[in-house]
Amino acid sequence: MAAFLLLNLAVILLSAVAQNITDLQNALSAHGVSAVYPTDENFTIVSQAFNRRFTISPIAVAFPTSVAQVSAAVAAGAAQNLEVVARSGGHSYIANGLGGKDGALVVDMSKLKAITVRSSNDTALIETGNRLGDVALALNAKGRAMPHGTCSYVSRGGGNRRTQWYASIESSVNYELNAALGYGGFGFTSRIWGLALDVVKSATVVLGNGTVVSASANVNSDLYWAIRGASPSFGIVTSIEVQTFPAPPSAIVLEYTWNDLDMSTAADSITSFQTFAATNVPPELGAELLFTKGSSSGKVNLQLNGAWYGAPELFNATFAPYLNTLPATSSANIFPGSYIDSVMTLASPQGLNTSAAPDEFDTFYTKSLMTPSAAPMSAAAIEAFATYMTTEGFSSTTEWFAEVELYGGSASAINAVPLDSTAFAKRDTLFTIQFVSASAAPPYPAAGFTFLDGMVASILNNEPADWNYGTYLNYIDDRLLNAANLYYGTHYPRLKALKAALDPKDTFRFPVGVTVA
Ligand SMILES: Cc1cc2nc3c(=O)[nH]c(=O)nc-3n(C[C@H](O)[C@H](O)[C@H](O)COP(=O)(O)OP(=O)(O)OC[C@H]3O[C@@H](n4cnc5c(N)ncnc54)[C@H](O)[C@@H]3O)c2cc1C
Ligand SMILES: *[C@@H]1O[C@H](CO)[C@@H](O)[C@H](O)[C@H]1NC(C)=O
Ligand SMILES: *[C@@H]1O[C@H](CO)[C@@H](O)[C@H](O)[C@H]1NC(C)=O
Ligand SMILES: *[C@@H]1O[C@H](CO)[C@@H](O)[C@H](O)[C@H]1NC(C)=O
Ligand SMILES: *[C@@H]1O[C@H](CO)[C@@H](O)[C@H](O)[C@H]1NC(C)=O
Ligand SMILES: *[C@@H]1O[C@H](CO)[C@@H](O)[C@H](O)[C@H]1NC(C)=O
Ligand SMILES: *[C@@H]1O[C@H](CO)[C@@H](O)[C@H](O)[C@H]1NC(C)=O
Repeated sequence: MAAFLLLNLAVILLSAVAQNITDLQNALSAHGVSAVYPTDENFTIVSQAFNRRFTISPIAVAFPTSVAQVSAAVAAGAAQNLEVVARSGGHSYIANGLGGKDGALVVDMSKLKAITVRSSNDTALIETGNRLGDVALALNAKGRAMPHGTCSYVSRGGGNRRTQWYASIESSVNYELNAALGYGGFGFTSRIWGLALDVVKSATVVLGNGTVVSASANVNSDLYWAIRGASPSFGIVTSIEVQTFPAPPSAIVLEYTWNDLDMSTAADSITSFQTFAATNVPPELGAELLFTKGSSSGKVNLQLNGAWYGAPELFNATFAPYLNTLPATSSANIFPGSYIDSVMTLASPQGLNTSAAPDEFDTFYTKSLMTPSAAPMSAAAIEAFATYMTTEGFSSTTEWFAEVELYGGSASAINAVPLDSTAFAKRDTLFTIQFVSASAAPPYPAAGFTFLDGMVASILNNEPADWNYGTYLNYIDDRLLNAANLYYGTHYPRLKALKAALDPKDTFRFPVGVTVA
């Protein structure tokens, strides 16, 4: 009897799901939207997460070719009360481009690739299916540029396991534009021009009920505010209009390495980077410290990556105050050239034209910390962090890196933007630190979480309980406690109120998003 009831229930559930898919298929095909469903041969490929820590099965992956089709797809999903998400580059660290959990309708943006560069008012209209390399090429063809990410941890020199690992997760020019700027968008030009989201003048957005609207300072200004820092929770951005800048006349990419620093030298490299940042570092300098496992216990490797966009003859003098605090390098590579050469060098070994680039995968966990300019890391925190990297970092069973990115310094355009003018929550940041721990293949080991939690704790345990730090949404962490506060800061109440007004049915819902109360 019980078995019969269960069977009956199973049949009812199965037919409800089938009905759901049929309705969805009908609604999508009525608008000519092609989609891949779980029974289709290509489903496994189109639903694969970049981070193989996640295996996710969406209800369907739709491939709209126009804004009207994006609207139709969102409306079709909303009508069935499905969770709807956009996927642009698909490189969310927690597979949010697939919904972050089973059952979402994925709206893949890869067919929307128009780019129009307008010299009349120094803007560009960019559809969100474009990847950064293609955007950089199109702008550069007109002598223009905009701030965006780089993949500086793709090392060009060595052939070790780490290098292969970083190279295999592909250059950031290959991830898509929108989500990067929807949440931030940091690169080595950001101290000159700001984050990618800071140059967005207007956008076309499909809301949760399928309505297509514009957003700018004058039209739907609340939405315009929200998408610059939290776009995935508010709509599917189909295009953005960005301000462009003259491409700098020259650029120098730098890559210095120090093998096997001891704990105190590693700590000093961070302390003096912090001191250097507090001086008048010109905005034309972008830089970050990249730490990786040393060759024995008590040691850690350091790579200093960056780019200089100012006059070439000023480069050495600008950098000397920092370099003079460090021992002699193990190797020092300088790549002088044009602006687009620098974008290519930073993207290498990937090319900038991503149209034929195959997608790559990895299995990893990421955490982040954004340190406040007004309260930089304490000496005790830096020492504990360096100690952790040289001891636990050596015995770790997972591959790892820790990357200390320079956001601040007195002349930084990132921090010149008034805090409340966009939804991005951390305008007082000195460093954004990205911590990554990866395994060769799934399943991801529990030891990787413990190792990375310990690395972040080494810093936090040596700061006051009320330390005003944050975390970076583009380095999104699904295991973070107090995530709303750390990601959205003082903007969270306004974001929640806007979510209730703009997406009352919570159509765009996924882990760590802004939710309807
Ligand atoms: C190799 C590598 C290098 C990186 N380097 C940098 C860097 O230098 N600087 C930096 O800031 N970040 C960097 N990142 C992080 C990167 O910015 C984030 O992973 C970003 O989310 C990737 O964007 P995506 O479009 O590929 O993501 P997706 O997985 O497609 O989407 C991420 C989130 O945005 C939503 N979304 C996607 N498209 C849209 C849209 N059109 N409208 C609204 N919401 C949308 C998705 O639903 C999801 O919630 C790097 C990542 C990788 C893998
Ligand atoms: C599956 O993907 C391949 C390669 O992208 C493509 O050529 C083929 O048309 C796809 N098949 C279906 C049924 O969509
Ligand atoms: C379709 O499925 C979703 C998710 O399982 C459910 O919430 C929704 O109510 C279903 N819609 C219909 C019309 O059955
Ligand atoms: C720039 O020019 C285009 C085309 O004339 C126009 O549509 C757009 O609104 C302008 N943008 C700004 C920010 O002035
Ligand atoms: C900067 O210094 C490096 C070596 O320290 C030297 O090779 C390079 O020519 C110098 N660059 C300039 C522009 O002076
Ligand atoms: C990128 O390559 C494709 C095909 O190889 C080509 O059609 C396209 O024009 C290239 N794009 C740019 C910006 O060079
Ligand atoms: C769609 O949602 C927006 C934001 O909530 C609302 O202003 C608009 O009236 C809605 N449109 C329709 C057709 O319901």
